[in-house]
Amino acid sequence: MYKIAIIEEIHKDGIDLLERHPDFEYELISDVSEKNLINKLPKFDACTLRVSKLDEKILKSCSKLKAISRHGVGYDNVDLNYIKKKNITLLVTATANAVAVAEHVISMFLFLSKAMSNYDKEVRNGNFKLNSKKIKTFEMLNKDILIAGFGRIGKKLISRCLAFDTNVYVYDPYVDEKIIKKSGGIKINSIIDGLKIADYVSLHMPLTKETKNLINYSILKQMKKNAIIVNTARGGIINEIDLDKALNENLIFGAGLDVFEKEPINLDNPLLGNKKVILSPHSATFTDECTSRMGIETIKNIIDFFENKIDKSMIVKL
Ligand SMILES: NC(=O)c1ccc[n+]([C@@H]2O[C@H](COP(=O)([O-])OP(=O)(O)OC[C@H]3O[C@@H](n4cnc5c(N)ncnc54)[C@H](O)[C@@H]3O)[C@@H](O)[C@H]2O)c1
Repeated sequence: MYKIAIIEEIHKDGIDLLERHPDFEYELISDVSEKNLINKLPKFDACTLRVSKLDEKILKSCSKLKAISRHGVGYDNVDLNYIKKKNITLLVTATANAVAVAEHVISMFLFLSKAMSNYDKEVRNGNFKLNSKKIKTFEMLNKDILIAGFGRIGKKLISRCLAFDTNVYVYDPYVDEKIIKKSGGIKINSIIDGLKIADYVSLHMPLTKETKNLINYSILKQMKKNAIIVNTARGGIINEIDLDKALNENLIFGAGLDVFEKEPINLDNPLLGNKKVILSPHSATFTDECTSRMGIETIKNIIDFFENKIDKSMIVKL
């Protein structure tokens, strides 16, 4: 019998799947304090993981742990050096969430370019007969889009962008031009060149030393005045102070952020008062369908791992 720790609640569909497998028993751990995790985790063979942190101090107590199954695809909350040393396998929900994130990007593109929050406010204030010049709006038709990072999400996003009759440029130094071309995109070798020509930008790369603060004031200054930039990847890729400044100086038109340098976002973050930015609380995958898929895939990965039939695309190469 394998003992599975469900660290933080997951969708019932995932739990149902686990309950149908007689070789597994589980316990839900809702108190994710360091003390409780150190106390509880030693008896488990595997665990699921949402946003709480598994650092070396906690992992040291997990002598039986063979696999960590992330509910999602990012894993900056796990001490990778330690699990590599201890041969603990890290699994991600590789197929569950890309579409939900891609739809989130499209909704932010449209919400910003059609100035939906301004229109909504005017109607509620009784200003139905608006002068069309009062609020500037754009169409996506024939616009140039830059997708930076062409992995699971970037690949789902491109077809959705192309459906709006746009030109899509892709920046991803690690993806072959042929793959981009086959998807209908145009490979671009310098992100700066892409940012300079794009009307819409969407970021889909990991946060690394290389991508931290990639979008800063000097870059924002070179972008088009009508540009809209959306970050659903990781906070810190866009410098938030620089973004706020650039929006206030009308250097770009708008921004959509689902991820932040610090989460939850600090209440004194200037972006909270900036009307040119639309914000969501790291919720791009919170659709009914996606939370169910992620719950199921998180559990399926654990079952497949112990039954030696895990799909390689679910394993993080350490
Ligand atoms: N907002 C959310 O809820 C949410 C949900 C899922 C994923 N994410 C984040 O979205 C991002 C993309 O996820 P994914 O599943 O598509 O990941 P992925 O690993 O499938 O793709 C990432 C791509 O980025 C590319 N890349 C790496 N470094 C790069 C660089 N310096 N410049 C350009 N491209 C680079 C890689 O070659 C890869 O193709 C990740 O940061 C992930 O954590 C956020």
